[in-house]
Amino acid sequence: MRIPRSPLASRAASAGRSIAAVLPWLGLALLTGCNESTMSTFEGHSDLTKSILDIYGTITWIDTALFILVQGVLIVAVIKFRATGKETELPEQVHGNLPMEIGWTIAPVLILMMIAIPTVSLIFDSQAQAKDGALIVNATGKQWWFQFGFPQYNFETANELHIPLGRQVDIRLQSDNVIHAFWAPQIAAKRDMIPGRVNHITFTADKIGEYLGQCAEYCQDSHALMKFRIEVESSEDFEKWAKAQATPQADTVDDSEGYKAFQGATCVACHAIDGTNAQGHIGPSLTHVGSRKRFAASVLEMNEANLKLWLKDPSAVKPGCKMPNLKLTDEQINTIVPFLQSLK
Ligand code: CUA
Repeated sequence: MRIPRSPLASRAASAGRSIAAVLPWLGLALLTGCNESTMSTFEGHSDLTKSILDIYGTITWIDTALFILVQGVLIVAVIKFRATGKETELPEQVHGNLPMEIGWTIAPVLILMMIAIPTVSLIFDSQAQAKDGALIVNATGKQWWFQFGFPQYNFETANELHIPLGRQVDIRLQSDNVIHAFWAPQIAAKRDMIPGRVNHITFTADKIGEYLGQCAEYCQDSHALMKFRIEVESSEDFEKWAKAQATPQADTVDDSEGYKAFQGATCVACHAIDGTNAQGHIGPSLTHVGSRKRFAASVLEMNEANLKLWLKDPSAVKPGCKMPNLKLTDEQINTIVPFLQSLK
């Protein structure tokens, strides 16, 4: 004869099945944190992101201690005061306990202060006046790309930010359209780019490498495709890069077939190429565009096939893209692409 399961046993079995169903997904979610992603918040490579991690660490330990304390008291209470079945009357009923009530009001306030004081002071530190000699970068959020201006070096670029190792950087975040957010988790944390104000984020990178960033404030159609790259390099490499970027393109560029096709296709209305008559400022500057590793807000790798794909129909790559489909002929595309690649 089959013995019917007790309600408790069948509830335990059902809970077991639910846990078994969730485990693979939980494992998968945890695994996503294990890759060598350059967007993992668990790996800081600047003074700012390391300080943020320290605060996370402190909060985690405080929470762990509280969890153990609360669960410990609960378990002791459940065991010590459990019903034995021999009770004849209700236990003593207690109403109100002033010292306890004061205690559980003050304790959370103290805990919140332990979290709030370091957090708020770091927020202020990370937007404090930068030191003399800091690298200033004017970052402007566009729909949908990032413009980076280097006023001390007198040039402008797009979606690719080089910064020198060990030198403080003061990024001045702005927008002339909707709200965007500058988010580079391993290097610069996150701060909003708000029209009509300048937000600062100051930090010093401490590891050479390539880091990824992404807009983190919903800004319509191609928000998810609004990315950028940060390259942290030695001071010498940075100076070399900045000097090259600030140098106008060779004055022979104007005479090239590529430039004529570029001009004929009206690209000059929106894009600038320093050293030529192209001085449009609606789209990204294309000065030295061929030296960038990626383009279209870092969505595409810089190569011939991708440039052709882009020129054929920009909105097919980035929905809602402000660059119109110019209905370029294959001949125009085949002339403009090598020209863009030559702008090193
Ligand atoms: Cu810009 Cu989202």
